[in-house]
Amino acid sequence: MRTELLQYIDGLDAEDLPAYVYDLSDLREHVTGIRAALPERVQLLYAAKANSDPRLLTVLSDHVDGFEVASGGELHHIQTTCPGTPIAFGGPGKTPAELEQALQAGVDRLHIESEQELHLLTGLLVERTVDVLLRVNLPIALGPVALAMGGRPSPFGLDPGHLDRCLALIADEPRIRLRGIHVHLASGLDATAHLDLAAQVLTWASEWAKENGLELAEVNLGGGMGVDYARPDRRFDWAAFGTGLRRLLEGHPGLTLRIEPGRSVTVHCGRYVTEVLDIKRSRGHAFAVLRGGTHHLRTPATKQHDQPFTIVPADSWDQPWERPQAQNEPVTLVGQLCTPKDVLARSVQVGRLRVGDKIAFAMAGAYAWNISHHDFLMHPAPRFHHLDHAPVPARPHP
Ligand SMILES: Cc1ncc(COP(=O)(O)O)c(C=O)c1O
Repeated sequence: MRTELLQYIDGLDAEDLPAYVYDLSDLREHVTGIRAALPERVQLLYAAKANSDPRLLTVLSDHVDGFEVASGGELHHIQTTCPGTPIAFGGPGKTPAELEQALQAGVDRLHIESEQELHLLTGLLVERTVDVLLRVNLPIALGPVALAMGGRPSPFGLDPGHLDRCLALIADEPRIRLRGIHVHLASGLDATAHLDLAAQVLTWASEWAKENGLELAEVNLGGGMGVDYARPDRRFDWAAFGTGLRRLLEGHPGLTLRIEPGRSVTVHCGRYVTEVLDIKRSRGHAFAVLRGGTHHLRTPATKQHDQPFTIVPADSWDQPWERPQAQNEPVTLVGQLCTPKDVLARSVQVGRLRVGDKIAFAMAGAYAWNISHHDFLMHPAPRFHHLDHAPVPARPHP
């Protein structure tokens, strides 16, 4: 952890906790690196569902080619937070009202999930045009991945066998401009696995376009760039991914690729910081009860992992009784909820952990606060802190 960040966390008072602390400088540096690693013919969109905190979006908007949204709510949020940034609208079950909203907003791309969506769209296109990608669920074997959204029966995208009917509908509606295909098959892929998938997708897409006499302008490879919650210091290998995409593009002149990662972009910049309220033993096992819990940071419950953390020791103790502690032993970190599922990390070996010490959970910048069940038990919400050490741009002399 950066020294400034550690100092900041150390300086937080008990009444400031729990808190989400976002390191905007880290985010800026990270997304700048991602952009630099990608070839020119790859457009970078950020999947807003991973974390749509306005301050994060504002930092990202200077470095991405656009945002991917998956609801009318996200669309409105991006329009108001980052006006003018191109938006791609995807996701299943778009309502007629959302499609109308997308058309009125003049979205850059609409990712079509089904034939039903195309029919709905056709009825709304009075004197308006729209650029679409057809989202396809390709029959590609995925191997072990964190979250599969395709390559098997799935509510996401269209089976290749259903594309002909979509092409027929599009042929009858010149206001729908087909630009290519979209594929988001899995989350949690490393760079090698993602490139392997990309190669298979491009082979399939070029053959499909050729068979149908179409010009393939664009392929969106989705998100799903993996991160390792057991190795918070390690990031997705963007350099290798960029090099691989450059090589793939050599075989496809005129094609533009798009990617729409979420987790791998923002996960590292966020920390959930809290304090140890109690340490107790049950049948010989140590439990540290923390202020807050999975109603603020649901990620370890949904992914069934140990959220990585750093102990930030607090040395002062002014109570007359002995300070409860765990020493050189495995400890399970739990929250304040009345459910055995409220576990943030299980049986993790610690050197020393005491009541009053702070815990800074890492990798809490994506699918964390925004996917959590905030109102369960009505504990107070966390505070949100945004640290930014970016040099203030020099003011021009008057
Ligand atoms: C269509 C689509 N694109 C992009 C993403 C972002 O994926 P990730 O956050 O794993 O990069 C998702 C996540 O579910 C998605 O469904």
